[in-house]
Amino acid sequence: MTFTPVSPAVAARAAVTGPTAESVAYPNIALVKYWGKRDEDLFLPVTGSLSMTLDIFPTTTSVRVIDGPADVVEFNGVTASGAERTRIETFLDLVRAKAGRGERAMVVTSNAGPTGAGLASSASGFAALATAAAAAYELDLDPRALSRLARRGSGSASRSIFGGFVVWHAGEGEGEAGDQSSFAEPIGGDGLDPALVVAVVNQGTKAVSSRVAMRATTATSPFYRPWAESSVLDLAEMRKAIAARDLPTIGEIAERNALGMHATMLTARPGIRYLSPHSIAILDTVLALRADGIMAYATIDAGPNVKVLCSRADAPHVDATLAGLGDFVTTRTAHIGPAASLTTTSPAPT
Ligand code: DP6
Repeated sequence: MTFTPVSPAVAARAAVTGPTAESVAYPNIALVKYWGKRDEDLFLPVTGSLSMTLDIFPTTTSVRVIDGPADVVEFNGVTASGAERTRIETFLDLVRAKAGRGERAMVVTSNAGPTGAGLASSASGFAALATAAAAAYELDLDPRALSRLARRGSGSASRSIFGGFVVWHAGEGEGEAGDQSSFAEPIGGDGLDPALVVAVVNQGTKAVSSRVAMRATTATSPFYRPWAESSVLDLAEMRKAIAARDLPTIGEIAERNALGMHATMLTARPGIRYLSPHSIAILDTVLALRADGIMAYATIDAGPNVKVLCSRADAPHVDATLAGLGDFVTTRTAHIGPAASLTTTSPAPT
């Protein structure tokens, strides 16, 4: 059995006394966005959302139960500190509370893609952490319960528990009722095999996190309510378009929903703008592709990078066109990706 190695500096800090579990999870890109919480502690969203899990940029995470005074977290090869570490510790506290356990953990996690750049690293990150931590602390959770758990680390992570097209229900009510009913689940989409060309214009970590931007937008943008109301309708229409395997309609809804979300940020007070001139250049190119008869549609998250939805057959042309725009952009073509999974487990050392 092999696990991702722990760096010697981290390994020296604690003895492994309990089970070890390693997982892998993939990012997902929302085609109908989650933007706004009705309960910040429970991560209950204002509206439901719908995504496509990708087959690129996975996060690999191992969790080892240890005999030590504090959690040890290694993130992309470096010992984590500050807010990053606190977020992981808070999540582990939740897992421990559910499991009725107190031991600390050693977490080793790495992202194959850029972190904190609007490329859904928190979605794959918390889906992977939920999967590995639940196993290491011997919590027996079905995928729905795992999705509810991952939601508490990062809302969008609830969707990365599943592969393919996934809906995350807003859930009904508040408190326990809301917590129980706000989970993700896969929806059909059989026979749909689109590509998502990811155009990376900036790999850096964003200045304003999606969490902070979401809070500010919900609280201050006069456009927020109208967007949320239209997003409910977008979700219903998107589900129909997926059932009908109608890629152009899926693309149209995804593009308008994302641009609407950015309109709410731009009209927050003060305004928040993730789009850069390079993002706009890519949006213009998507329009030009459509004028040429290529069914390509853009979506953008909390960052300047643009993801372009198109058919698998058109993807090489779309990818080459975007890559040809200049040195400021690098591209990667993704397709439908799998559910989060446990890759290795081992019992406590004897
Ligand atoms: C724009 O899931 O990162 O990507 O729940 O506060 O951790 P928190 O936010 P997060 O927000 C994702 C926002 C988005 C849209 C989406 O993925 O639906």
